[in-house]
Amino acid sequence: MGQFDGKVALVTGASGGIGRAIASDLSAQGAIVIGTDRDGADINGDLMDAGFCDVLPRQIHEQTGRLDILVNNAGIITRGKITEASDDDLRRSLAINVEAPFRLCRAAIPLMAAQGGGAIVNTASCWGVHPGPDHPIYVMTKAAVASLTQCLGRDHANKGIRVNAVCPNEVNTPMIRTGFEIRGFDPDKAIAELNASVPLGRIAEPEDIADVVTFLASDQARYICGALVEVNGGKPVG
Ligand SMILES: NC(=O)c1ccc[n+]([C@@H]2O[C@H](COP(=O)([O-])OP(=O)(O)OC[C@H]3O[C@@H](n4cnc5c(N)ncnc54)[C@H](O)[C@@H]3O)[C@@H](O)[C@H]2O)c1
Repeated sequence: MGQFDGKVALVTGASGGIGRAIASDLSAQGAIVIGTDRDGADINGDLMDAGFCDVLPRQIHEQTGRLDILVNNAGIITRGKITEASDDDLRRSLAINVEAPFRLCRAAIPLMAAQGGGAIVNTASCWGVHPGPDHPIYVMTKAAVASLTQCLGRDHANKGIRVNAVCPNEVNTPMIRTGFEIRGFDPDKAIAELNASVPLGRIAEPEDIADVVTFLASDQARYICGALVEVNGGKPVG
């Protein structure tokens, strides 16, 4: 018996580092998980496509009869100062990191309300709560996700819908590893150096974040609404 037996979960970014761990965790605990990503997922699609986001929750509800958990995990990181940012950087980050979660929440909430409740977990970032240097586009999109979480957590609690966010600091995933590669660093060496900057002695692995997402989606978090849960190994944003 799993704690999510009979529940249906939609996870975005399910082919990525953290998304794969979330999907596997929820599924191991009994949920029927539908993962979405650009490719390699149960339902492939582009979150920049507004129409895709608008219909996805209903499509899953029609297929399975339910939608209990929505995890807005997909995201991209745009690095560099504002003076280096292109219109396309801005448009893509806003569309994937902010507009897609907005559209998916807007479509999922009435379905969850009609069935008596549900749980939404958004992946924000510590950087969305405490702005870090030289990533203004990423930081402002994650701040928007954090704010959306707090707003929806308050507005829809009376329908039994809990909306919360996990806010990781650095996690060992393709997002961070490809960032090192692009800048000409060996990712293993760079991560070893980063590990030394974390009071707990290492950056997070995807499972460290997935465990918190699973908790927030579960009945154990039944009284938590609109929370931004920082998962940072003791490392402040510097
Ligand atoms: N890795 C970190 O250090 C870190 C830290 C804080 C927050 N986060 C957040 O965690 C989340 C997951 O990141 P990750 O580290 O697993 O990165 P990742 O790159 O491994 O996974 C992100 C996934 O999102 C998908 N995605 C991106 N654009 C998409 C689009 N247009 N349509 C459909 N899918 C799309 C990608 O294909 C990818 O599979 C992101 O929201 C990220 O901002 C990551």
